[in-house]
Amino acid sequence: MTATPRVVFCAATGKAEPWLRGLAELMPHAELVAWNEAEPPADYAIVWTPPDAFYASQPKLKAIFNLGAGVDGLLRSRALPDHVPLIRLEDAGMAPLMAEYVVHAAVRYARELDRVEEDRRAHRWVQRWTVPRDRFPVGVMGSGALGLPVAQALRAQGFTVALWSRAARTLDGLRCYGGRAELDAFLARTRILVCLLPLTPDTQDIVDRTLLDKLMPDAYLINVARGRHVVDADLLAAIREGRLAGATLDVFREEPLPASHPFWDEPRITVTPHCSALTQRHATLSQIAEKIERLERGEAVSGVVDRVRGY
Ligand SMILES: NC(=O)c1ccc[n+]([C@@H]2O[C@H](COP(=O)([O-])OP(=O)(O)OC[C@H]3O[C@@H](n4cnc5c(N)ncnc54)[C@H](OP(=O)(O)O)[C@@H]3O)[C@@H](O)[C@H]2O)c1
Repeated sequence: MTATPRVVFCAATGKAEPWLRGLAELMPHAELVAWNEAEPPADYAIVWTPPDAFYASQPKLKAIFNLGAGVDGLLRSRALPDHVPLIRLEDAGMAPLMAEYVVHAAVRYARELDRVEEDRRAHRWVQRWTVPRDRFPVGVMGSGALGLPVAQALRAQGFTVALWSRAARTLDGLRCYGGRAELDAFLARTRILVCLLPLTPDTQDIVDRTLLDKLMPDAYLINVARGRHVVDADLLAAIREGRLAGATLDVFREEPLPASHPFWDEPRITVTPHCSALTQRHATLSQIAEKIERLERGEAVSGVVDRVRGY
């Protein structure tokens, strides 16, 4: 136990000051510093894609806290020390935002509001019959800190929802299909596919043409996880050929999405700028402060990344 834990903050984007001020309110006894190579090493680090030089300057770290749920960016750094526990955000206020975004996108498709928007652009007055909600079964890939609450929110809107993760189980009454063995059955009953998987060597490029072809006819994709889950050319072809009815994409292989990318000009693809669930400062700092206190007391914490699984 360190009498006065020293915490260093290093984020590639944004200012350190509001984070340090927020943390000072939660941990008045701690020493809090913005990273600077001249500062003495800290006990804990709070980071978002730090430069490699950061790790070299921090030989004493007891844990590294990531300012996000996805750790794929951090794990790409060869400088990341492999003996220090890496702890990710678990919900931390993002789940309700993610649920709102996905419910909005799913309802837009199920109520055919995307078609209404097309009609409006063409000055067409068309009253569409309301399609029964059971024609739009939703499948959520990933049943973790975000996938499960998103599935619960969709169910509350009247959707029939199933989940898919590594192991088959039932979660809060929702059927969770397990692993590659049950993937085809999961896809065959899914019309609106939501991706909330972590980006790992196992899940990269998972949403390719083979997978899309296994969905129900006139299917939709909502990707709010990582751009590299989706093979862009396969998605575009599936939409242009009418195999897929549309897609809502919040994340992209390259961000910002380049102005010349064909997704921008495809009317059946909705593009948003990685805004479905931004990190919430107060909830994030409360979660991290509580975990530092627990670690200081020698207790275990949740959210420790399994480096072999990659999430
Ligand atoms: N767009 C945004 O603004 C935004 C914001 C926050 C997060 N995200 C993304 O959302 C992702 C999900 O976050 P989370 O906190 O919900 O993650 P999480 O709690 O780690 O949950 C991951 C889920 O994916 C499943 N999974 C992992 N590898 C799999 C595989 N190979 N096959 C089948 N299932 C697999 C896990 O299965 P098990 O349950 O069996 O372990 C688990 O259910 C993040 O990684 C991040 O990329 C995006």
